[in-house]
Amino acid sequence: MIHMDSARAPATSQVANGLAAIADLLACPTCRAKLALESHSLYCAGCGARFGMADGVPLLAVQGTSESWGAPQQIEQSTAYQSEYQKVERAAAYNLYYQQRILRRITTSREYALIGRHMREVGHSRVILELPCGGGRMTPAFAGSTDFVIEADIAIGQIQYGRATSTVATPRAWMTASAFHIPLRDGSVDGTVCIRLAHHLPTHAERDRLFHELMRVSRRFVIVTYFDHHSLKNLTHRMRHPFRKKPPKLTMTTARVAEYARECGGRLVAAPALFLISSGQRYALIVKDGARGASDP
Ligand SMILES: C[S@@+](CC[C@H](N)C(=O)[O-])C[C@H]1O[C@@H](n2cnc3c(N)ncnc32)[C@H](O)[C@@H]1O
Ligand SMILES: [Zn+2]
Repeated sequence: MIHMDSARAPATSQVANGLAAIADLLACPTCRAKLALESHSLYCAGCGARFGMADGVPLLAVQGTSESWGAPQQIEQSTAYQSEYQKVERAAAYNLYYQQRILRRITTSREYALIGRHMREVGHSRVILELPCGGGRMTPAFAGSTDFVIEADIAIGQIQYGRATSTVATPRAWMTASAFHIPLRDGSVDGTVCIRLAHHLPTHAERDRLFHELMRVSRRFVIVTYFDHHSLKNLTHRMRHPFRKKPPKLTMTTARVAEYARECGGRLVAAPALFLISSGQRYALIVKDGARGASDP
């Protein structure tokens, strides 16, 4: 078992059963009480909910956006996007697109370099949560920097694709989960890697919830991407579509990301651009106040 306060994660042989290894870190996505691992489900003694499994993958994703945490329903929401990769064929198409196009492969290798740089900054981890993990495209960028990876995505199709195709050797557990209701205890993982989700969220309410949830479960750091409002890419997009024929990009300013970091007890350390001209994506590293290395007592 991986205990939140243990000094080191167990060896590979001990965590062969990924889910059992993180049982102590789990929390009900609805009421946050402890979850009990049963043979084919997870049970919450707090609210009485029972979460099933598909092919050994716990289904812990709470669907929906602001209405699901009691905030007012918005006109634009990312609800439809949550359904986009539920089918494994759609997930395969997304991941193969990134593998087969030369420009996409260049993008992925630059993403690896940025994440690798952040990993060197934060040092080795016991447990990293990757949410959303998609089909595991980004996992090799940080898997060597941690003893264990929790792979989570709202779409079961992405999880199925990732589980079937990923060759990463680091011990892992998979689950479906919403980034708005992360089924983990506060500070249960060293850090969370959240790549290419924020720019799909259309409202302040959703972005606000995302940052607070990522920071809640992370003890030391969060790596999160966002589409920079002041990027050249967004400027040219706005100039080319002045009459809003194309929807505006869902952007954030770096100042707002730094504010989220402060609000949640952390500090924005760096936010390098993926590419200065051809992309608006930035890869932010937020470090929590008082964070120490994974092996510190
Ligand atoms: C653009 S993909 C990025 C996947 C992966 N990080 C990558 O870079 O390849 C966005 C992912 O977010 C997932 N997603 C959408 N809404 C979500 C939510 N509320 N919580 C968790 N995952 C979500 C989708 O299923 C999809 O797999
Ligand atoms: Zn519960």
